Amino acid sequence: MSIEIRQLTHIYDASTPWETIALDRIDLTISKGTVFGLVGGIGSGKSTLASLMAGLGTPAHGSITIDGEPPDPGRNVGILFQQPEDFFFEKTLFEDMASGLLHLGLTEEEVHKRIHSTLDLLGLDHQILDRSPFHLNRGTLRLAAFATVLTMRPGYLILDEPTASLDPKSRKRLVEVIKRISGDIAIIYISHRLQEVVAVSEYLAVLEQGKVAFTGTVPGYLDWATGQDAWEYLPVLNQVMYGLQRLGFDVDLNVACLEDAVEQIRLSLERT
Ligand SMILES: Nc1ncnc2c1ncn2[C@@H]1O[C@H](COP(=O)(O)OP(=O)(O)OP(=O)(O)O)[C@@H](O)[C@H]1O
Ligand SMILES: [Mg+2]
Repeated sequence: MSIEIRQLTHIYDASTPWETIALDRIDLTISKGTVFGLVGGIGSGKSTLASLMAGLGTPAHGSITIDGEPPDPGRNVGILFQQPEDFFFEKTLFEDMASGLLHLGLTEEEVHKRIHSTLDLLGLDHQILDRSPFHLNRGTLRLAAFATVLTMRPGYLILDEPTASLDPKSRKRLVEVIKRISGDIAIIYISHRLQEVVAVSEYLAVLEQGKVAFTGTVPGYLDWATGQDAWEYLPVLNQVMYGLQRLGFDVDLNVACLEDAVEQIRLSLERT
């Protein structure tokens, strides 16, 4: 049960002066039951890869299969776009959330049930369902967009910068929900917030100019980044731990949050 990406290449504006090789012979395997982080600089190809995995667009070369089948948006894969606010167009949020589910052939009762239970999962006020999406603030709209994708119960869920424009509280809630649901499905988590990616993911890939620069476990990633002094890929907390290691402290580099880091330092001080 996995997404298999083989030799995937994607070119925008091929054979024109604007030709861009956005993805260059990508090989990746993303298994069910994991959170898979995808990081990389601006324009490194993350959103392009996300769209192709979600079955939107055809790659120039190579293949993507999901449990052996081609990606089928809304059925075997769901995506939360980088700017999900652009994808609301109905009069009320409820109508927007319901349209995809009705399209899947669910009854009205099932649609209601799914929508309300998903809002509960995210701690969202049910009253927003009657409001126009255009009257909701950006943070609420982003959570609503996340809820919309979740109602589809995708086995593979791609989240492109899901916490951008969220306040710290909403961000925390979204990360908690991701952790809770990730046992049964695969989540592909794309973000510039490295601390968040490291905290939430088990596996990770780094894209650099359309190529896979690293893929492996999170501890493997931290070793990779420190091994080549790639500070830009290390979350600040892990940079601190690395700095302490260099000063002779016996601390683990692989910390996911401030509490972990403090505990590591406390234990190290006790040992000396
Ligand atoms: N629709 C498009 N038409 C032409 N070129 C595009 C298009 N979308 C992306 N590109 C180019 O493809 C490359 C990869 O872009 P992509 O949006 O996938 O990167 P990204 O890693 O998601 O970046 P960001 O961190 O800014 O979200 C960039 O050079 C970008 O300019
Ligand atoms: Mg992007």
